[in-house]
Amino acid sequence: MTSTGDQPIGIFDSGVGGLTVLAELRRQLPAEDFIYLGDTARLPYGNKSAGVVTRYAFENTLYLLDQGVKMVVIACNTATAGSLDRLQTHFRRSILGVIEPGAHAASEASRSGRIGVIGTTGTIASGAYEKAILNRRPGAVVHGAACPLLVPLAEEGMMDHPASGLIIRDYLQPLLLKDIDVLLLGCTHYPILRKAIAQQLVDGVRIIDSAGATAQAVREDLVRQDLLRNSMGRAGTCRFLLSDRHDHFRHLAERFLDGPVPDIELVTY
Ligand code: DGL
Repeated sequence: MTSTGDQPIGIFDSGVGGLTVLAELRRQLPAEDFIYLGDTARLPYGNKSAGVVTRYAFENTLYLLDQGVKMVVIACNTATAGSLDRLQTHFRRSILGVIEPGAHAASEASRSGRIGVIGTTGTIASGAYEKAILNRRPGAVVHGAACPLLVPLAEEGMMDHPASGLIIRDYLQPLLLKDIDVLLLGCTHYPILRKAIAQQLVDGVRIIDSAGATAQAVREDLVRQDLLRNSMGRAGTCRFLLSDRHDHFRHLAERFLDGPVPDIELVTY
């Protein structure tokens, strides 16, 4: 099937995390229409086996393609780590993940080459970031740490809760002992907790996430395929679809997208 520039871009995550990528996409591509799918019925993905997450990722991708999107952005590291290659081979459509862009941004940002990566249990166990960073920067030393409690904290909107600070400190301490100069947020939920994470870091450690670099990769892919939307001055729109109700979604979406969020549709697939 041939795509056209007027079609929306599909983007999915297990829940609210992908909003951090959507915010950057909208900033860099203001004329594009987006369909955001949060698989809140099956959240979290990070502690599930790779086979199960791959099945969810297939179903999400199929659902978005059925909605007529011209491209799918997997705004989830766990799903990217386990299923990007398979999705690309199976669907033969433009499907982009967040790990290559994140690895690129971290490799560029680090001076010493000592890079810390935090992510879900699934992402860290996959070794996908270490592989992607070493491909770009063979001498780098990558230290990973799984932080399974951070997704529920972000989903609950506990950005400013003291418990978040304590948990983050506990997770980060072993990494900080490794003298890293970049901390890569290898989960799209973590930028929601950026302030609390920054408070636990020592001077000289930069926080990097994959959102900006992913949006840039999406733009490049659209340009390459001549699929950028010709807006004629009209601002892009965004539809929000969730696979189950989520009490904090609207609040978090409005905070991250910096504006009112229209109807949130509940979908079954
Ligand atoms: N935001 C996702 C990620 O980047 C998934 C988190 C989860 O559902 O555990 O990995």
